[in-house]
Amino acid sequence: MRRTITRGIAVIGAAALLALGTACSNEREGSGSTGKDTSDAKGGFAQDGLVGVALPAKTSENWVLAGDLFTNGLKDAGFKADVQYAGASTTVADQQAQISSMVTKGAKVIVIGATDAAQLSTQVAQAKQAGATVIAYDRLITNTKDVDYYIAFDNFKVGQLQGQALLDGMKAKKAKGPYTIELFSGSPDDNNSKVFFDGAMEVLKPAIDKGDIVVGSGQTDIKQTATQGWKAENAQSRMDSLLNSTYTGKKTLDGVLSPNDTLARAIITSVKGAGKPVPVVTGQDSEVESVKSIMAGEQYSTINKDTRKLVAETIKMVQSLQKGDKPTINDTKSYNNGSKVVPSYLLPPVIVTKENAAEAYANDPKLSPLTK
Ligand code: BGC
Repeated sequence: MRRTITRGIAVIGAAALLALGTACSNEREGSGSTGKDTSDAKGGFAQDGLVGVALPAKTSENWVLAGDLFTNGLKDAGFKADVQYAGASTTVADQQAQISSMVTKGAKVIVIGATDAAQLSTQVAQAKQAGATVIAYDRLITNTKDVDYYIAFDNFKVGQLQGQALLDGMKAKKAKGPYTIELFSGSPDDNNSKVFFDGAMEVLKPAIDKGDIVVGSGQTDIKQTATQGWKAENAQSRMDSLLNSTYTGKKTLDGVLSPNDTLARAIITSVKGAGKPVPVVTGQDSEVESVKSIMAGEQYSTINKDTRKLVAETIKMVQSLQKGDKPTINDTKSYNNGSKVVPSYLLPPVIVTKENAAEAYANDPKLSPLTK
């Protein structure tokens, strides 16, 4: 079920993997089964080489944080840094232009948090032609072989943790089902949205099939659950209409699968506005307001994907490339972008509820005080 364009061909045999490696033999990266990148690395580049970082719009706190961390971290490591965000409305065109400009300026590595996974093939082809290495950051870039590495928290795992948290949270509140829920997913242009949703559905679908969980509106298709642009107002208005159509009178809902914190808070606002009890709502990103809400007993869960770690690991990758070394990767099978399996470095996401928040954020000076 998780074998989508985005996630994995784990079932593929070793021989087929090898064949795939041969098919991609023009690439520097291999798909060695040892988890090590076995192909030849390029010759490196000057210590103060230019590194471009193209980030999407600031749709959640993690992106805001990443920009600052990249700017400072790359500078501290001795690189020149060009860190750009796609604008709030013309995100795709903005990002395309920013990447092209990084190529023109001679960037040696371009790190991309794609605003639209499928709309960057021209720009990454330009980057490759100019000899730059392309790293997909947090979000995979699809349908192109011109992406060298992928670095992210394991997104499928994020979805599985969300699905499990939803089940656990509902069971803790009410020992016996059936439970009534609604499903939300992220922006369709973000490759992660489907991966999160598929991960969650892998956990939820058996319970839905058995009738232990009922999706009140019947909207279980990702197209019906999507939240364009990851915008809070879009999630809030969809929740408003679900409440008006499906939860009239005394009808309540037990849980909502929300793919991230921004949308979780919008969903909670909508439910409260309708005068209904707040259901179990999942989230992601450990945003300040959501951590507060979890500690106050409102939002049920979030996911800790420590942006400081992800950026630090990305900068390590850049440093390896600068030296002409092969960057460390730990996954050579999970993230198929439709053109190739992209060698990946995946970090483990952590589920956070009120119960383990203090422990989960112990090393985070911003979040740990909120848990006291
Ligand atoms: C990120 C999430 C984030 C979402 C919206 C996704 O690609 O992985 O952490 O919540 O974008 O910004």
